[in-house]
Amino acid sequence: IPVASFDCVVFGATGDLTTRKLLPALYYRFRDGQIPNTSRIIGASRSELSAEAFRERARDALKRFVPAADLADETLSAFLAHLDYVAVDGAGEDGWSDLAEKLAERPDQVRPYYLATSPDLYGSICRNLAQHGLIGAKSRVVLEKPIGKDLKSARAINDAVGEVFPEEQIFRIDHYLGKETVQNLLALRFANTIFERLWTADVIDHVQITVAETVGVESRAGYYDTSGALRDMVQNHILQLLCLTAMESPLNLEANAVRDEKLKVLRALKPITAADVQTVTVRGQYVAGAVDGKPVEGYLADLGGQSRTETFVALKVEVQSWRWAGVPFYLRTGKRMPDKLSEIVVQFRASPFSIFPSEAFGREPNRLVIRLQPQEGMKLEVMTKDPGPGGMRLRPTNLDISFEETFKQRYPDAYERLLMDVVRGNATLFMRRDEVEAAWAWADGLLKAWADRPEPPRPYASGSWGPTASIALIERDGRTWHENWQDGAD
Ligand code: BG6
Repeated sequence: IPVASFDCVVFGATGDLTTRKLLPALYYRFRDGQIPNTSRIIGASRSELSAEAFRERARDALKRFVPAADLADETLSAFLAHLDYVAVDGAGEDGWSDLAEKLAERPDQVRPYYLATSPDLYGSICRNLAQHGLIGAKSRVVLEKPIGKDLKSARAINDAVGEVFPEEQIFRIDHYLGKETVQNLLALRFANTIFERLWTADVIDHVQITVAETVGVESRAGYYDTSGALRDMVQNHILQLLCLTAMESPLNLEANAVRDEKLKVLRALKPITAADVQTVTVRGQYVAGAVDGKPVEGYLADLGGQSRTETFVALKVEVQSWRWAGVPFYLRTGKRMPDKLSEIVVQFRASPFSIFPSEAFGREPNRLVIRLQPQEGMKLEVMTKDPGPGGMRLRPTNLDISFEETFKQRYPDAYERLLMDVVRGNATLFMRRDEVEAAWAWADGLLKAWADRPEPPRPYASGSWGPTASIALIERDGRTWHENWQDGAD
């Protein structure tokens, strides 16, 4: 179903995010008939470009980031015809009246302003939009992460944007919420009766969330070095995954109902203090090694300088609530790991007693693995009997759903869904101000604890699963990381 006709103004139109994610996402929605013909995508940035030159850049970007099989020449040209461009200085005065003039051509359009710029510009862009009378009932502003680098700076950004946009018109993006499998978590938990009844401390032993990447910091070392894995991945993506796993059933799927429940989880996170950093946290930094069989440099060489920034973090976290008391959540994320792999593992308690001979592994616990990427799917490991006359020999076997095989269709990128949700005005998969701030409040506590006990990050070879201390972090509790989708029950 097509969305309402819109004029989407993308600030940061020549940047990496626009090129790699936003243009391809809009292209796919156009190809699939969701973008009405009267819509425009208006690039805005400081570069003096003609609309034609911007279209050419966009053509190159799409050729790079959309598989050739999906890029029919005719569709591509038809899409590019919707692109326009205005040179605007986000931090200054130039170009705003040109933008105002262009938008005035179609006053009734839904108007998403997508801020794909550095967060330093959010305040001045919003002020300029207000001063030029460009904010109306059909306007929305989309904020990319990072929304600040701590609670204080996040509040300053939220205040500046909140001065001109009401909260309902602010869409803070966390692209992990647009991933199909993440939304499937809601379906799994709240559209089936079998799981939710088991979703308690009585039955669940622990939860693991892993978001591993094979890439290093690539061309983003400048930004990344001021951030590190905790700010870049944990404060947002991983905490959002934790929230969806741990939250109570929302009253319905409306934005505030879902966000109220996520907020409660964030507020229930046990603060990590300097007294426990050494037992419940591990910071790592990659050194030279090999990924996918290719030798790669270490972080310091990628950065070209000295640094104590972490590119890996493992944490043991507690959610202080009736449902989760005593159930640890082990979280880890890192660059330059052996695989790009994101998954949530819910491990149930072992059966209380085994009637089977011990060598039959009668007490192997059940595990539910929700795989975000790659090969989206879910599997439930259950104990079964080995076929044949060899006696009661048991082994874990998978109840396995591969979404790709089941649905046999392309999995849309997270940005496709989220961009269309912005046009529709559906904020369920976006973060509310208090959520972002609660996540920062918790992350700030941890950053302070690390600062109080300063230690260099532990080195780990590129292509490994992180510092050995991260393995010790979980093994100390008699548990192990679920290393690989292929491991275990297959
Ligand atoms: C971004 C981080 O938010 O998410 C990047 O800033 C990271 O450092 C990326 O690489 C991972 O996203 P995805 O969708 O590739 O898992």
